Amino acid sequence: MKISVLGATGTMGGLIIKTALQEGLNISNKVSSRNEVSELFEDTDVIVDFSCPIATQSMLEYSLQSKKDVPIIIGTTGLSDKCIDLIKANSENVPLFFAPNMSFLISIVNMVVFATGRLLDETFDVEITETHHRLKKDAPSGTALMLGQSIAKSRNKKLRDIAVFDRHGVIPQRRCGEIGFSVRRCGKVVGEHEVSFVGDFEEISISHKAFSKEIFARGAIKAVKWIPAQKPGFYTMNDFTRDMIIPVVKDLYKNFFSWNRDKF
Ligand SMILES: NC(=O)c1ccc[n+]([C@@H]2O[C@H](COP(=O)([O-])OP(=O)(O)OC[C@H]3O[C@@H](n4cnc5c(N)ncnc54)[C@H](OP(=O)(O)O)[C@@H]3O)[C@@H](O)[C@H]2O)c1
Repeated sequence: MKISVLGATGTMGGLIIKTALQEGLNISNKVSSRNEVSELFEDTDVIVDFSCPIATQSMLEYSLQSKKDVPIIIGTTGLSDKCIDLIKANSENVPLFFAPNMSFLISIVNMVVFATGRLLDETFDVEITETHHRLKKDAPSGTALMLGQSIAKSRNKKLRDIAVFDRHGVIPQRRCGEIGFSVRRCGKVVGEHEVSFVGDFEEISISHKAFSKEIFARGAIKAVKWIPAQKPGFYTMNDFTRDMIIPVVKDLYKNFFSWNRDKF
C-alpha cells in the first residue's frame, strides 16, 4: 500500500512515515508547504494529513475539484467550519476518516464521558481541562472539543450553545448545563485531558495522558489499513472502534450486572 503524507516535514508527519515504513507500507509522496497539494494525489492509495488547517483546506478543495477519489485520513486539528463542510462534501465520493485524536484510549474516554453525561443530569457541572506543549497552535485542543461535543450530545444540546471558553474579570454566574474549558500550554506535554462532572456532594473525573506522539501515528496507520475497504463516507474513531467496544458493552450487561445479583 502506498501513502501520501501531508505535513511530511512536521513532527507527526515524520512519525507517520517512520511507523508506516516499520509496518511495511510505502510512502508515495511527502508534501509540505514547499509543494503543491496536487502532488499528494499522484500514484497513491491513501492520503494522510497531519499539517495545518490551511493546508487541509487546500487538499480538500483539490480533492473535490479534481475528483481523484483517493481515501483520506485527517488528523489535523483546529479546522474551520468551512473545512468540516469540505470534509462532508468529499465524503460523498471517498471514504474519509477524521479524528482529532487517533488514540484508542481516547475513544474509550469519549464513550465513557458520553455515558456519564447521560447518567448524570445538569446539576453536575462539567469542566474540561487540557494541557499541551508550548508549541501547540490551536486551543482548546480538538480532543477537548470532541469530548465536549460528546457530553453536549448526551444531553441533547449543541456544544456551541453551552460551551464557555473565556472566564476573565467579572463574569456571570455559572449557568446550569454549561461546559467550561480550561487550557494550559507548557513544557513538552504531549497531551492531557480531564473531564470532571462536579455535583454538590461528589465529583467524578475521567482523564487521559498521552506519553508519546507515537500512539497517534500508530492509530493513524491502523486507520490507513482500514479505510480503503470502506465505502465513501465520513468516518471517525467511533466507527473504527465500534466493533471492539460493542461486545464489551454486551458483556458488561450480561456478566457485570448478573455477577452483582449472584454475589448478593
Ligand atoms: N489527530 C491526532 O491524533 C493528532 C495528534 C498530534 C497532533 N495532531 C495535529 O496534527 C497537526 C500537525 O502537528 P505537528 O505537531 O506535526 O505540527 P508541525 O510539526 O508544526 O508540522 C506541521 C506540518 O504542516 C506543514 N505545513 C504547514 N503549512 C503548510 C501549508 N500551507 N501547506 C502544506 N503544508 C504545510 C509543515 O510544513 P513546513 O515544514 O513546510 O512548514 C509541517 O510539515 C496539528 O494540527 C496537530 O494539532 C493531531
